Amino acid sequence: MASLGRLFRLALGATLGTWALLLLVALAAPVQAQQPSSVNPTASSVKEQQLLQELNRIQGRVSIPDKRSGMLEQPGRDWRNFHEVTLRWIGGIVILGMLAVLVIFYLTRGQVRLESGRSGRTVVRFNAFERLVHWMTATCFIVLAISGLNITFGRPLLIPLIGLEAFSDWSQWAKYGHNYLSFPFTIGVILIFLMWIAGNIPDKTDVEWIKRGGGLLGHDHPPAKHFNAGQKMIYWIVVLGGGAVAITGYLLMFPFYTAGIEGMQVAQVVHSIVAVLFVAAMLAHIYIGSIGMEGAFEAMGTGNVDVNWAKEHHSLWLEQQKAAGTDARPAAAPAE
Ligand code: HEM
Repeated sequence: MASLGRLFRLALGATLGTWALLLLVALAAPVQAQQPSSVNPTASSVKEQQLLQELNRIQGRVSIPDKRSGMLEQPGRDWRNFHEVTLRWIGGIVILGMLAVLVIFYLTRGQVRLESGRSGRTVVRFNAFERLVHWMTATCFIVLAISGLNITFGRPLLIPLIGLEAFSDWSQWAKYGHNYLSFPFTIGVILIFLMWIAGNIPDKTDVEWIKRGGGLLGHDHPPAKHFNAGQKMIYWIVVLGGGAVAITGYLLMFPFYTAGIEGMQVAQVVHSIVAVLFVAAMLAHIYIGSIGMEGAFEAMGTGNVDVNWAKEHHSLWLEQQKAAGTDARPAAAPAE
C-alpha cells in the first residue's frame, strides 16, 4: 500500500512538472520569436551615443582620491571639431589673407620712402633697454608663433612632407620651445606695457591721423607724437592679446589647477583664436617695421632715426625733442 502511494505521488509530481515545463516553453516562445535572427554588434555603442548626447559625458563614482578617474567619456566632440576644422579655417584665412594684403600693398603702393632724403643728423628713438625688451619679446613671439601653428597645421602640412618620425621629433622640440619661451614672452609683454603706456593713450591726434589714412596711401604726413594711431593699435594688440594668450596658455600648461575639462576647452579656443589674430597683426607690424617703410628699422636696430624721418612720421614728437634739446646729433659715418 505504502509503495502504491509513493508511486502515485511520483506520477503526480512528474505530471505537474511536465505541465509546468510545457507552460514555461509556451510563455517563452513569443519572446524568442521577437529576437532578431542575428546579433547587432553596434547595439551597445548606439546606446552609448544616446547617453553621450543626453549627458554630454559618461561619468561614474570612484573611491580613490583622484575623482577625475571616474570620467569614462568626457565632453569634447565640439571642441575636437573646432580644433581640427574651424580653427584651421579661421587661422588659414586671417594669416594667408594678411600675407596677401601685404603683398598687394607692396606691389601697388611700394615702400613708403623717406621723401625729403636723409639729413645726416639723427635723433634717439629707443634706448638700449627698450630695444632689448623689444627683441626679446619679438624672438620669443616668433618661436611661439611657429611652434603654435605647428600644433594646428603641422599634422596635415608636415607629415606628408617629412614623415611621422621627423614630425614627432620636431613637434616635441617645438612644444618645449612653446612652453619655456612663454615665460620670457610674458615678461616682455609686461615690460612693453609699462615702458610705453604713457605714449599709447589714444588722443585727438589719432583721429586726425586715422582720417588721413596715416599717410600710407598718398604722400601725406599727418602729425604724430612718439607713437601714431597705427602703432598704438599694435601696442594694445600686444598688451591685450599677449595678456590673453598668456593667461589662457598657463591654464592649459597647468591643467586642473584652476580649470576643469570644459574650462580648459574654453581656454584653448580663446588661446588659439587670439593667437592667429595676433600673428596676422604682427605680420603687418613686421612688414611696416622692415621693408614697408624706409628708415623705420633703424629705430629698433641702432636706436637712432634720421631727423627727416622723424619730421615726416612723428613731427609732434620731434618738436618735443627739439624743445628738450635732444633732437639732433651727427649720424654715425657709414663703415668703409
Ligand atoms: C622681426 C620682427 C619685427 C620687426 C622687424 C619689428 C620692428 C619694429 C620697429 C622698427 C619698431 C619701431 C617703430 C618706430 O620707431 O616707430 C617696432 C616697435 C614695436 N614693436 Fe616690433 N618688430 C618685430 C616684431 C615684433 C613683435 C613680434 C612684437 C610683439 C609681439 C613687437 C612689438 C612692438 C611694439 C609694441 C612696438 C611699439 C609700437 C610700434 O611701433 O608699433 N614687434 N618694431
